[in-house]
Amino acid sequence: MSKLGRIVASLPIPHVLRDRVDAQFDCIAPDRHLKTDEVIALANQHQPDGLLISLGMPMRAEHIAQLPASIRVMATTSVGYDHIDVAAANARGIIVCNTPDVLTDATADTHMLLLLGAARRAKEHVRNMDGGWKIRNGFFQGLGVEVTGKTMGIVGMGRIGRAVADRARGFRMPILYHNRTRLRADREGDARYFASLEDMLPLCQVLSLNLPGGQGVLMTAERFALLPRGAIFVNSARGSLVDEGALLEALKSGQVGAAGLDVFQKEPGYDTRLNELENTFLLPHIGSATVETRTAMAELALDGIVGVLAGQSPSNIIKV
Ligand code: GLV
Repeated sequence: MSKLGRIVASLPIPHVLRDRVDAQFDCIAPDRHLKTDEVIALANQHQPDGLLISLGMPMRAEHIAQLPASIRVMATTSVGYDHIDVAAANARGIIVCNTPDVLTDATADTHMLLLLGAARRAKEHVRNMDGGWKIRNGFFQGLGVEVTGKTMGIVGMGRIGRAVADRARGFRMPILYHNRTRLRADREGDARYFASLEDMLPLCQVLSLNLPGGQGVLMTAERFALLPRGAIFVNSARGSLVDEGALLEALKSGQVGAAGLDVFQKEPGYDTRLNELENTFLLPHIGSATVETRTAMAELALDGIVGVLAGQSPSNIIKV
């Protein structure tokens, strides 16, 4: 098979994909994650047809303007594309692809880990075990709150939101949701739709964020105040959706009883005051981080590049 063109990658290509990549492309790949400026320099040096990038590597209009004209496609190994100015890329004739669907289950699994970790005070108990189990909890000490049967409000009922709902149903949690549009009846099932987020918040014993980033701050002090006191807040979507100062205050006052967070305003330099609080359970943005899922994501991103360079219209092209 003749090669489809040249690509520059901003991340190392894992061994399992190396043969495939080498068969399809002339690939310039680093041995570490590159920064945006380094990728731009590499692209100008090698004049590739495609770019393979990842989260944490902003591609704003000013970066896109510096890319060589040879580039026809850019694929990100993420479902979220709030780090890319897709309109600016399209305006330069660059098609952008992402990795929908393949990370849905892994991310929903992580979401439940966050919920359970926050509700059951996992941080404190793991710390106790790390320290050799020096604290002996009495019968009424170290208690969390029950997840089973609590009402969960989901903001963003796309693929990941629906996968979270499926898992929550296994915990016998009634599901409420707020979404731009109401789901078709077969997708909605027993979930109850709220056109207004403000109407839903007072009913959410657990509030779950599952919507894309890039749409400003959704959870403000006013909205945290609308939750029932002690509600559990879970975010595996984007930190940019949350006013972290307001969340800190709500966690300190007990208005939010506990929070499970995989995403932060700033990553990796997150606000460590969140971790100093006992009622948080934090993970370093590992939503999709399983061997199976990360491999599938890289494959899908590469499929997008292959499709575009072969003159096809792959299903993972981002349309804005
Ligand atoms: C993860 O956050 C992703 O967007 O893939």
